[in-house]
Amino acid sequence: MIANQRDFPVAVLVSGRGSNMEALLKAEQAGELGRATVRLVVSDNPEAKALEIARSYGVRAEYIDGAPFKTKLEGAAEERYIQAIRESGARLVVMAGFMRMLKPAFISAFSGRIVNIHPSLLPAYPGLHTHERAIEAGEQFAGCTVHFVNEVMDGGKRIIQARVPVKPGDTPEILAVRVLEQEHQIFKRVIRWISEGRLTEETCPEEPFIFNERMPLWN
Ligand code: GRF
Repeated sequence: MIANQRDFPVAVLVSGRGSNMEALLKAEQAGELGRATVRLVVSDNPEAKALEIARSYGVRAEYIDGAPFKTKLEGAAEERYIQAIRESGARLVVMAGFMRMLKPAFISAFSGRIVNIHPSLLPAYPGLHTHERAIEAGEQFAGCTVHFVNEVMDGGKRIIQARVPVKPGDTPEILAVRVLEQEHQIFKRVIRWISEGRLTEETCPEEPFIFNERMPLWN
């Protein structure tokens, strides 16, 4: 295998700021994304900064209407997404701050080939307002998780987590910055492992890797 052959197209779903997506684009430029290449970026929000950023990297970026629902992708909208991703030839769907639940038709269209990043140490704090909830609960550690996506919200097989300390005086915003730095570190590694065939949903261990601590796939 030629190490830098980029024959593993990826589609990235975004709704907002796009810092995780940009971290992947930077990693690709730096040759750190294995065989993966970001082929398509899709947003359910026409104003998403992520669309602008993707285009500035020369990546095709499209707004696709997610209506009529606001928090899930279902029916005709789901079909539009499935079709666009299929047409792109993507072999992996990456949810990078995509604020909708994926339903069974989408999940089975890309079975075992969807990953998401979530800003908590799952199974703790699925859903929204993770940092606020972790601080309120007096947690000593917070963090982020990359996981395969199934029909349970933030409930699929966990691949890797990074931990950060919760410090005295932390606000959700301050903690979010500390966690986000780690998100950018772990996401690109997962995409690389999957693109190189080193990790699949079936072979994913029960317990997630812990970034910088327990990293059997590291090289
Ligand atoms: C990140 O915190 C990610 O974990 C969550 O949504 C946020 C997206 O941020 N799923 P960005 O758009 O990647 O900057």
